[in-house]
Amino acid sequence: MSTLLHRFLFLLILLPISLSAYSQAPAIIDYGSRFHPVVSNKGMVVSQSILASQIGADMLAQGGNAIDAAVATGFALAVTLPQAGNIGGGGFMLVYLAEQKRTIAIDYREVAPRSAGKDLFLDELGEVDVAKARFSHAAAGVPGSVAGLVHALESYGNLPLATVLKPAITLAERGITVTQPLAYSLAHAEQRLRKWPVSQAYFFHKDGSLLRPGDHWQQKDLAATLDKIARQGKDGFYKGEVADKIVAEMGRHGGLISLADLANYKVIEREAVTGTYRGYTIAAMPPPSSGGVHLVQMLNVLEGWELDKLGHNSADYLHRLIETMRRAYADRSEYLGDPDFHPVPVKALTDKAYAKTLRAGIDLNKASASSDIAPGLKQPYESPQTTHFSVWDDAGNVVSNTYTLNFSYGSGIAVEGAGFLLNNEMDDFSAKPGEPNAYGLIGGTANAIEPNKRPLSSMTPTLVFKQGKPVFTTGSPGGSTIINTVLQTVLNVVDFDMNIAEAAAAPRIHHQWQPDKVFVEPGLNIDTRRLLEAKGHKLVPSSRVMGRTQTISSDGEYTYGANDTRWPGGGAVAQP
Ligand code: GLY
Repeated sequence: MSTLLHRFLFLLILLPISLSAYSQAPAIIDYGSRFHPVVSNKGMVVSQSILASQIGADMLAQGGNAIDAAVATGFALAVTLPQAGNIGGGGFMLVYLAEQKRTIAIDYREVAPRSAGKDLFLDELGEVDVAKARFSHAAAGVPGSVAGLVHALESYGNLPLATVLKPAITLAERGITVTQPLAYSLAHAEQRLRKWPVSQAYFFHKDGSLLRPGDHWQQKDLAATLDKIARQGKDGFYKGEVADKIVAEMGRHGGLISLADLANYKVIEREAVTGTYRGYTIAAMPPPSSGGVHLVQMLNVLEGWELDKLGHNSADYLHRLIETMRRAYADRSEYLGDPDFHPVPVKALTDKAYAKTLRAGIDLNKASASSDIAPGLKQPYESPQTTHFSVWDDAGNVVSNTYTLNFSYGSGIAVEGAGFLLNNEMDDFSAKPGEPNAYGLIGGTANAIEPNKRPLSSMTPTLVFKQGKPVFTTGSPGGSTIINTVLQTVLNVVDFDMNIAEAAAAPRIHHQWQPDKVFVEPGLNIDTRRLLEAKGHKLVPSSRVMGRTQTISSDGEYTYGANDTRWPGGGAVAQP
């Protein structure tokens, strides 16, 4: 990080703008690339939809703080990025309040309906009914997004709810122009969405044809639902007409969510999981996300080696990374779940001494077999589709938010008359001990289905501090790969001195204990791959790119925004 500013100073010499002109220069200095971020002397919003980022940046310009901008962006994404932006899902938000020097972790994860039990997705033979767990009304957890966004705004924002919701309502009501990435994504989900007449009506033309780039697309029912939220706050969703529509939808198709489930949904503020890494402090999401715990755990293990000397993405570096990932994900399978139902050994897992024992068990020349690695604590004492956005305002407040429907477009099921998709987050529970979920993740009793319980997540909104001040924030979609994506982003910046755009663009790998495979993005050179195979690793090309980070850094004077270019349509937008 120390040379981060220097990199930009060098870059700026290439631009026909002198440093002294910055104070008079427009806030947006350039538009960023995979080699350098967008730079601004004001606030910054980065999301997977440039339109939603713009809306957030406009909130900053209207006098809103990072929380106002984040909430506006979150609701706008529900309109512009329907595959993951949502009001029918849930997520996690980290808020840093500069004046109070305080980090708050807001848990608005979905909860299991009260009538859900541990055998919900088992058929009469005791096998997991995958279709029911992923593509039925019973797959929906009680949504938390509306409660979470409204809670953040009411607790830490400055602007009225109606103001931050207005752009999203206008976009849904008047319609948006379908972009190429949106058309591509809708076509990709065609089968899932067509199965349900209500989804077909919402996500296709009236004649049933696919939406194409350049088409005009209105979401009138969604606009009406957002309008109710703007007028009535969270009750506009969890009570009254919208709640009735959700429950009627459940009643028609064997879903479980009841009026009482909705009325009783609660946002929980938790203590962020924290750790240190080479002089930086990490704050990330605690359980029921596994993200923060395993991010800190893996950094603790890796801190014992001089990674920079090994070279970025060298075989020796990646070997250590893979073995560390293998052990962290093995622990995830055993110990992680909703802490309100099952004690999670956060302290033990994030303890530097435990990391030392894990490190000592790693043979530096030879891959271990996942079948030989058991979850390692001696004493347990105590989707893919998701989306992330980051916001930094010029007072230094920061928001790092990841939310999701689980799969792209969730279960594909929309609520009739209410205009939004339902999540299929119940598949993030362990339907049966030892059986993998959609991401191949294995879980046990800690993550079994129980009424009112939150399913385990991998979402990892993260803040990194140096000398008490936030220096960057990041997060990513990508199901089980999220934690490793965030880990490699942190390592790329801290150990390999990359700027945040380079850190996002560098090829990534992923190992999650089971299956015992290293997933490799394109771009890792053949020599490295051969050396890893010679150590005994089983490498497979990832079927798609892994993760899409949305990162903002700050040196106290400028903010730098980097949208991961693995997916088109996103963008870092500086406050105008
Ligand atoms: N639904 C993916 C996750 O929460 O990790």
